[in-house]
Amino acid sequence: MLNPSDIQQDFVRLVIGELHRHYGVDFAGYNRNFIRRRIASRMNRLGISAPMQYFKILGSDVNEFSQLLQNLTINTTEFMRNPEVFLKMEKFLLPKIAEEIAGNSLMIWSAGCSRGQEPYSIAMILMKLRIPERMTVRIFATDIDEIALDTARKGLYDAASLSKLSPTDVKIFFERKDNGSFSVKNNLKKMIIFKKHDVVDGQSLGKFNLIVCRNVSIYFTKNLQMKMYRRFYEDLLPGGYLITGKTETPPTRFIKEFECVDLDNRIYRKA
Ligand SMILES: C[S@@+](CC[C@H](N)C(=O)[O-])C[C@H]1O[C@@H](n2cnc3c(N)ncnc32)[C@H](O)[C@@H]1O
Repeated sequence: MLNPSDIQQDFVRLVIGELHRHYGVDFAGYNRNFIRRRIASRMNRLGISAPMQYFKILGSDVNEFSQLLQNLTINTTEFMRNPEVFLKMEKFLLPKIAEEIAGNSLMIWSAGCSRGQEPYSIAMILMKLRIPERMTVRIFATDIDEIALDTARKGLYDAASLSKLSPTDVKIFFERKDNGSFSVKNNLKKMIIFKKHDVVDGQSLGKFNLIVCRNVSIYFTKNLQMKMYRRFYEDLLPGGYLITGKTETPPTRFIKEFECVDLDNRIYRKA
């Protein structure tokens, strides 16, 4: 059994370089111990202990590349993940933003959206609040993982993944398929633009009233986190809001840029 500490830095650099060349995804700013753990996990799964043997497989087997990428992106997510945050969005944040922008377009970005449950949850709340009837709503949902985005675009989920939704919401927003899976209805799908995009290095997608980026920066080095929050500051409209994951906070360097509105739910406002 290989330990993550058996993986040398040079080898990590080599793998990162290959991932960059093949997928255009740059893991250079990710926590090195995290990457070592993920590589070791793949090698153990394949029963390989020699790093260069694994590297050869990476070079010849597209499947293994994709497996490693999946291991590195960790796209755990669910509908209404941390329900209290979504409740806050429904009862306070989204009505407030809608009131403040009074008729202008409402721009929302779900960065690191994984398989789509996060942006679909936001879209459901907007529909329940009937905000799209009053103004144009655009939700950008982005991720670096094309496989996760593919699932998001299809909007097809099994019954178990809907467990956090009320039966009424399931009825309103999903169509039950013959095979027992549930498909997101078109009116919800139409509100979201899914796009492959790197939250740190990707080109600007516009200016937003709300950016939701949860459980993405946990794998980033401090340096990459700094870049990401700088970008969010630039891409938020004046007075725009940012929601991070429950264990994430903007670095202290940004204390003046992001005013904390609700620490429990990690809601910040561009100062
Ligand atoms: C744990 S999931 C979080 C999903 C969702 N935001 C949530 O909290 O339920 C992290 C997602 O971030 C994505 N990700 C990681 N690095 C990224 C980057 N540099 N740019 C965009 N997405 C990234 C991963 O592919 C993965 O789908």
